[in-house]
Formats: sequence, structure tokens, C-alpha cells
Amino acid sequence: MKRVALITGITGQDGSYLTEFLLEKDYEVHGISPCTSHGFFNHDSTIHFADLADGTNLREIVDSVKPDEVYHLGAQSHVKLSFELPVRTADVTGVGTTRILNAIHEHQQHTGRQVRFYQASSSEMYGKIVESPQTETTPFHPRSPYACAKVYAYWQTINYREAYGMFACNGILFNHESPRRGQAFVTRKITQAAARIKLGLQKELRLGNLDAKRDWGFAGDYVEAMWLMLQHSEPDDYVIASGETHSVREFLDEVFGHLDLDWQDYVVVDPEFFRPSEVDHLHGDFGKARRVLGWEPKVSFRELAQIMTDHDLVAAKKEKVLADHGVE
Ligand code: GDD
Repeated sequence: MKRVALITGITGQDGSYLTEFLLEKDYEVHGISPCTSHGFFNHDSTIHFADLADGTNLREIVDSVKPDEVYHLGAQSHVKLSFELPVRTADVTGVGTTRILNAIHEHQQHTGRQVRFYQASSSEMYGKIVESPQTETTPFHPRSPYACAKVYAYWQTINYREAYGMFACNGILFNHESPRRGQAFVTRKITQAAARIKLGLQKELRLGNLDAKRDWGFAGDYVEAMWLMLQHSEPDDYVIASGETHSVREFLDEVFGHLDLDWQDYVVVDPEFFRPSEVDHLHGDFGKARRVLGWEPKVSFRELAQIMTDHDLVAAKKEKVLADHGVE
């Protein structure tokens, strides 16, 4: 019998990599998505439409799919946008987790089946950090409506584990990127702009805080850690990180350097892209995941920057051919 996985946020960056990973392992993969109009669709998976802000059909989906594993990746995941949409973010990212946990709990009670649950927790929860590197025991100090919603969801996941014995795990994932990263996140914004600048399609790149430091890894590596958590004998919480920290400036150095350009000739610092409160420094310690799950990252910071830049250079070249032929 094939194992069955249900992924919320299946059309996002992580959802798409996780789908490929699970199909490779011969899972039957189902996903939940709020709409058809954007994202990555894998035709070997089945999509069910539901909004995490409206739990009415979540229970029906869980009852019909009968998943062995649920990966809860769906969220309003943009930190800056969460300052503009704090209530929507709390509803989707925070209470949305309770809606899916509750649907699984009711399904388990009704059918006697066991479902394993993965919660996409975030290093943003550490916010104004109290120690470095951050581990599973570092206290949280969230600095955005997004991070507050993620802290709530983190504790709900633990609460369902402790109250009902649910096999529920938090993966505290530090920033993870890829050529599939959304264009509003800083790494992809930089690689796309650098590639377009290289080909004369764009003249400048407007950014916010260049001093912020993040622990950036490759999303394709991180989805394996999600799966490993749900294969372990006990449910637990794990930091998943690269173990290195770099500033936005250093990412610019890597990307523009790879294209033989100097970013200082093109980058304009624009207050528009600063946040009302910032997370200055994130640096994860993935020692527990290495020890207990045997997980470690494979793609380095430099390789990640180059993979993303090379991908966006190919896209920019296609765009240039079209532009040269007057096609928009
Ligand atoms: N997005 C963006 N755009 N960020 C910028 C810009 C810009 O123009 N200029 C500077 N930055 C800085 C931000 O202020 C932040 O300090 C850093 O670049 C990274 O920003 P993002 O790439 O937007 O990611 P994030 O760290 O806020 O959040 C991401 O990682 C979290 C895990 O730690 C998101 O994927 C979250 O959903 C995720 O939980």
C-alpha cells in the first residue's frame, strides 16, 4: 500500500520540492491550495481547494484523503507584508494551523487512524535574539505579526502533542531559498535583478536593510529534514539550518561577483523596503537534527547563490530575446 501525504501550501517553493521528494519515495501526494492561479503544480499530485482562513472543508479533505502524514507548509509567509496585513496573517498563519490540527484530531478520534503532523515553524520566532547560534531551547522574541502567528502555531502544535498524544513535530527552519523562491524575498529579488542588469534589462536594484544577517540554506535540502522528522520513532522539534550566517551585502557580493559586476554600482537603498522592526541576526545550530535524524545540508551558501543566479540568467536571456524582437 502506498503511503499517503497531504501538503498544505503545496504550490509554494517548499511544497513543490517536498512533492517531488515524496513522489520519488512512492507516496501518493495530495495538496491543499487556496487557488489555481499561481505557484508550482505537479501533475502527479492531486490538489484540493481550501482556504486556511476558512476551515469548513478541511475536515472533509482529511477524511477523504486519509493521509498518513500531513505537512503543514501553507501560510501568509512574507514578513514585511504581515505588518500591513496583521489580522489576515494571524488568521491564516496562526489560527490556520489550529484549523488543520483540529481537523486531524477529529479525524483521528472518528476513525482511530494515526496521522503524523509536521508544522513549518520559523527562525523568525527568535526575532530579537537572546543567544547565538539559536537552538531548540533558545527563547523566542517575535518581531513581526508573522513571527507572532508562527509562535502561536508552534505552541499549538506542542499542545496537540501533549494534550492528545498526536505525533506532531515543529521544524524550526531558517531561511531556505532556491530558483523557485518567490520574487518578493531578498535572495530571489537580488538574483533576478542581477541577471537582468547583466543583460541590460534593468538599471538599478532597490533594497532595504543590507546589514541584516540570515542563515540561508537550499530548500531542496530542507524538505528531506521535514520527512525525516515524521519517520522518527518519537515526535519532537528540530532546528534546520545551514549553520552559517551571512549579511544581505555578502549575498550581493556572491551574486554580482558571479556575474563579474560590482553591486555598489547598481544597488539603491530605499526606505520603502525597511521593516517597522527588524530581525538583525539569525544563525542556527542544527546539531540536534544531525545527531538524531542524521540530517545535514548539502548545498553551500556560495553554491546556492550561483544556482539561483544561473537560473535567473537563463530566464533573463529568454526575456532579452523576446525584447529584442519587440515581444512583451
Ligand atoms: N524581502 C526583502 N526585500 N527583504 C529585504 C530587502 C528587500 O528589498 N532588502 C533588505 N531585506 C532584508 C530584510 O529586511 C530581512 O532582514 C532580510 O533581507 C531577509 O528578508 P526576506 O528574504 O524577506 O526573508 P525573511 O528573513 O524576512 O523571512 C523569510 O525567512 C523566514 C525564516 O527565517 C520568509 O521565508 C519567512 O516566511 C520565513 O519564516
